[in-house]
Amino acid sequence: MRVLDISCGLGSISVGLAASVALGEFRGIDMEQLQIDVATSVDQEAGLPNALFQVADALDLPFPDNYYDAVLQRNYCAHSRYECSSRRDVPGIETRRYPGG
Ligand SMILES: C[S@@+](CC[C@H](N)C(=O)[O-])C[C@H]1O[C@@H](n2cnc3c(N)ncnc32)[C@H](O)[C@@H]1O
Repeated sequence: MRVLDISCGLGSISVGLAASVALGEFRGIDMEQLQIDVATSVDQEAGLPNALFQVADALDLPFPDNYYDAVLQRNYCAHSRYECSSRRDVPGIETRRYPGG
């Protein structure tokens, strides 16, 4: 299973998510390098080799459509320059996962 965490921040929920798909692929993205550095460090301490973190813009995700089985974002809208009121408003959250994921 492939899981994408959009705007993962410091990875506070990412490690638990990555552990839940230990045999799959977990990726966390955030637009700020500092957040990614901390998330990577936390992940390395937890010893989860299936997790990757990278800088990316939620408004221009560098992944193919329908690649992820599950895509989530938490506490993104209040910190984004993008106006959104529901998960369907967040660019990429519908198209980067499989239908029904
Ligand atoms: C409050 S944190 C949420 C962290 C985590 N999702 C959580 O719930 O603990 C919001 C994050 O959204 C990120 N963010 C804001 N706009 C973004 C964008 N366009 N692309 C990627 N990340 C973005 C910020 O850098 C920040 O780390």
